[in-house]
Amino acid sequence: MNKPLIYSAPMAGITDKPFRLILRKFTSQPVYTEMIGIATLFFNHPQTRKMIQISDEKNLIVQLVGIEEKYMVSAAKEAVFYGAKGIDINMGCPVKKLITNGSGASLMKNKEAACRLVEAVKKAVDIPVSVKTRTGWDEKSVNVLDFALALESAGADRVTIHGRTKAQGYAGDVNYDLIRAVKEQLHIPVIANGNIVDKETADFVFNQTKADGLMVGRGLLGRPWALNEMGETPFDSFLLSDLVLEHLDLMLSYYGMHGLMVARKHLAWYASGMEGKALFCNQVYAEKEVDKVQKIIKDFFNTKIRYQEKETR
Ligand SMILES: Cc1cc2nc3c(=O)[nH]c(=O)nc-3n(C[C@H](O)[C@H](O)[C@H](O)COP(=O)(O)O)c2cc1C
Repeated sequence: MNKPLIYSAPMAGITDKPFRLILRKFTSQPVYTEMIGIATLFFNHPQTRKMIQISDEKNLIVQLVGIEEKYMVSAAKEAVFYGAKGIDINMGCPVKKLITNGSGASLMKNKEAACRLVEAVKKAVDIPVSVKTRTGWDEKSVNVLDFALALESAGADRVTIHGRTKAQGYAGDVNYDLIRAVKEQLHIPVIANGNIVDKETADFVFNQTKADGLMVGRGLLGRPWALNEMGETPFDSFLLSDLVLEHLDLMLSYYGMHGLMVARKHLAWYASGMEGKALFCNQVYAEKEVDKVQKIIKDFFNTKIRYQEKETR
């Protein structure tokens, strides 16, 4: 049985450059950026502009979100300029601001516009163009099979399916049977996504869907090494404090002192399930000096992480 590829999922506010560099330690597969708004990029919003400047990272897929073909093409060309290895178009995001302008998950209700976007980007760039979508808008309009077939005809090189409807958001059952049905009908690779958190769930979803790849989102929060445990050759054991301190350093270089604030959610995720988490969070959240935060981290995460040896797939 072929082993599926394991991808880390695009996550807004999470898969920024610092976290991607941490993920990169545990995978040789492409890593996704967070979604980048094509309109704000076109109008030179400084934060969005910073997001697409990826030239010093390797093997990245840039995820774009928006509806205007002209902006989409311009953003895709810019991503290529900065060295992207693939363009992914977001057709699954349920955020209201995106829905109301017809982008994100709204594109599932507008197959023609979705296909036009894929066609336009395919014509403009020479790198693979993929789409990330859901099973449908709501339980009354589960249309991913028809939608994915149309995207394939429009030239999409790969489709990732988060096995929930837009209405479900991020909770509730994931429809793996439907992902499998899409996989059986399409000729391009299909990636399964939703509730994969470790090797067991990865094996389960692979067996259910027979997908060409699996995508992991929330399962990597505070556990980026899980990407490696699901996919590739074992990593060497490491001290958790070394990893967390490195992540903090990357955040400080990328965001400046504001990185201390941005790091908080990651620190809480790393501490998740550990004894003394509440006290640890209180201490680091109250601290404004980097060297003191580093000392608290060093003392708290004094744990060796070892590769969890499980049966190979
Ligand atoms: C905080 C957060 C931000 C997300 N941002 C994006 C995004 O920018 N683009 C996207 O396609 N999906 C985004 N997603 C969806 C994830 O990529 C993924 O499809 C979803 O979390 C289900 O996978 P999981 O169960 O492994 O987390 C986001 C999810 C979360 C929780």
